[in-house]
Amino acid sequence: MNHFDYRDGILHCEDVPLTRIADEVGTPVYVYSTATFRRHAQVFRDGLKDLGRVHLAYAIKANPNVAVLRVLAEEGYGADVVSGGEMARALAAGIPAADIVFSGVGKTRAELSRGLDEGIGQFNLELEEEGAVLAQIAHAKGRRAPAVLRVNPDVDAGTHAKISTGRAENKFGVPIDQAPAMFDRLAPLDGLDLRGVACHIGSQLADLSRLEEAYRRIGQLVADLRAAGHTITRVDLGGGLGVPYKAGDVLPSPADYGAMVARVTEGWDVELMFEPGRVIAGNAGVLLTEVIWVKPGVTNPYVIVDAAMNDLARPALYDAWHDFDAVAPSGERMTANIAGPVCESGDTFAMGRDIDAVKSGDLAVFRTAGAYGATMASTYNSRALVPEVLVDGDRFAVVADRIAAETILAAERVPEWLTPGRA
Ligand code: LLP
Repeated sequence: MNHFDYRDGILHCEDVPLTRIADEVGTPVYVYSTATFRRHAQVFRDGLKDLGRVHLAYAIKANPNVAVLRVLAEEGYGADVVSGGEMARALAAGIPAADIVFSGVGKTRAELSRGLDEGIGQFNLELEEEGAVLAQIAHAKGRRAPAVLRVNPDVDAGTHAKISTGRAENKFGVPIDQAPAMFDRLAPLDGLDLRGVACHIGSQLADLSRLEEAYRRIGQLVADLRAAGHTITRVDLGGGLGVPYKAGDVLPSPADYGAMVARVTEGWDVELMFEPGRVIAGNAGVLLTEVIWVKPGVTNPYVIVDAAMNDLARPALYDAWHDFDAVAPSGERMTANIAGPVCESGDTFAMGRDIDAVKSGDLAVFRTAGAYGATMASTYNSRALVPEVLVDGDRFAVVADRIAAETILAAERVPEWLTPGRA
């Protein structure tokens, strides 16, 4: 469910026609609905209502815009961060440090130290050495770092290989069978307050049975750790719940997910933590674009839009599907390929797709672009960095500026040993 609907033949975000945003801000531009963010935050929380005390840490990598983070902070969400940059954003948005989980397989010593200084609520350790180093840094500061050990349960999440994280060969977590011995070595360290375990097996998950299998393995580990004398008070169950991208996609609801979690975790007696990203942000955003040309092709015409793979990388990276709809559809349909202006064939959003008939100058959207959209944008081909707009009812604000190619050029320089130009 989202708040992008047609009214009087024009696609609106809440009460704002997308034509207005295109006129005032230009295209391409990401457009987000505050109401959808709030609704998803509430629906996800409701799905977990039978679990007692839970900690919700929005995985800000999905959409780290500071205004979006502010909305989710208002909804009572903490944050899951994976870099110093994400930590700074979460703090800038007013999320209390104690509600921040610091994940990530390559946290640097500087980032660990900064996290300690800020009072981050939990460090999710990815390897034993990281735990030892964190303990040392904390000890030197006279502190104890709150931490859990991320384990790799060796479960195939059944998702795209590039976003699967819980198989033994993936780089994430420690092998689950080695976790008890690592716990024995890490738990006694002075600078560490090792409280439990974490897992995250992948993203865009459609099959709850894979998650259930992972969680059952975690449950067994918790029992084993307790039997070995460890105190376990927290289990972080990660994120990963998928969202529908096209008609006919069937995804488990947050309520289905919550029911499964309640069943599996019964009797664990821990604080459960969650790191949802896509399920909160995915359907809360679209990428608004203008058709530049409709170019004849061999089989189908190419609709060349002013958004490209540098603005929305998911189709090029993961063959991802994003629905493409005209902002003011005529009712006619066409079969077309949809591509951006970037100079590689990978800059193609769809091939042979049945879409609203469009022509040069028409506006259209790629839907379900609120997660892993703007945040993965680049300036490849010296294109501007795509801006972001947040709508709330009948008002909207530009919450990230378009960064012009000239501004990026201005940050580069030619060293003095090169000739400034042709004499
Ligand atoms: N927690 C951890 C440790 C993660 O690595 C991730 C996502 C999440 C939580 C949030 O997962 P979500 O609920 O959003 O599925 N760029 C890719 C997705 C990469 C996901 C990376 N990790 C895409 O566009 O599909």
